Amino acid sequence: MAGLPNDLVIFDTTLRDGEQSPGASMTKDEKLRIALMLEKMKVDVIEAGFAAASDGDFDAISQIAEKVKDSTICSLSRALENDIKKAGQSLAKANRARIHTFIATSPIHMEYKLRMTPDQVVEQAVNAVKLARNLCNDVEFSCEDAGRSEIDFLCRIIEQAIKAGAGTINIPDTVGYAIPSQFGSLIETLLNRIPNADKAIFSVHCHNDLGLAVANSLSAVAAGARQVECTINGLGERAGNAALEEIVMGIKTRPDFFNVNCNINTEIIVPASRLVSSITGFPVQPNKAIVGANAFAHESGIHQDGILKHRETYEIMRAEDVGWHANKMVLGKHSGRNAFKSRMEELGHNFSSNDELNDTFKAFKTLADRKHEIFDEDLQALITHAPDEE
Ligand code: KIV
Ligand code: ZN
Repeated sequence: MAGLPNDLVIFDTTLRDGEQSPGASMTKDEKLRIALMLEKMKVDVIEAGFAAASDGDFDAISQIAEKVKDSTICSLSRALENDIKKAGQSLAKANRARIHTFIATSPIHMEYKLRMTPDQVVEQAVNAVKLARNLCNDVEFSCEDAGRSEIDFLCRIIEQAIKAGAGTINIPDTVGYAIPSQFGSLIETLLNRIPNADKAIFSVHCHNDLGLAVANSLSAVAAGARQVECTINGLGERAGNAALEEIVMGIKTRPDFFNVNCNINTEIIVPASRLVSSITGFPVQPNKAIVGANAFAHESGIHQDGILKHRETYEIMRAEDVGWHANKMVLGKHSGRNAFKSRMEELGHNFSSNDELNDTFKAFKTLADRKHEIFDEDLQALITHAPDEE
């Protein structure tokens, strides 16, 4: 799209919104370990916490700001003086710091949660952005519940926030209500209608209540958003946030569709997923895209045969590129002779004749009918106990 930057900013909020997932709280040192992993992955912005939320969060942000030097470190704050000052203090040691301030903009939030008129909300947002800009050059402003906000009001408050000094404008779908085509149109309309839109990067932050967080985020990128907020393994409030690994691999796998640069070192994706899972105790489902144990596993004979002939018959990404050792052929009752023979050869057994292959394959199928998954040890045993050796 003409006039838009080419780079896509990856903003990770595992340590802030991810930690808001019930049961996922982390210690200061655990947060630092994750932050260092995110830095290694070349995440552009790490939202390290919400400084005013607790002393523990403040300390965790300060420690990360001191030790992580390559990524921008960000602290969340409500549009309140005390929150913004705390955020600024927690970031004092950062090489690159960002204050992220937010206020709700949907009619339901303004009326029932904030008990404020739209005019008051605009005034508070402008004051918050100005104060944050006095403390930090890099300020992000979020319209909480933008997915259910009125477009005219969004245009008005965003124009004012940019004038007040916000360099990034974030459009959260806070309750995961948006639909991809509609969310993409929302971003396009904001970019076209707000007179000073070209002075800021537009960002999206999607929740997964309808399972659409990644689809909504990608639709927004196609429409011109140039920052995506996401978390490792999609960790986050309720059904979670958009998963970083899915966003990044979507962008990288379809460069024909998303004409943006994304600097993430994808080989760190699986180690980061494992680290977050082990620290939070939240397991990753086996069929989770990119980082699930089965994401690159093939069991059916037709698929295994195809993969052995040409990897791209059934794979759109390379397992190694996201940090797996290699794709995995799972031998089970659906597996075919070719995959079986190939694994046996990898284990050092070359069949001396077709008859030997056929007999051992038959024994393997009988075993696979009984056993859910066949391990290398089972295959070794098939050879050791092959009929002609008894
Ligand atoms: O979901 C949300 O609206 C948020 C904001 C604070 C950015 O997490
Ligand atoms: Zn959120």
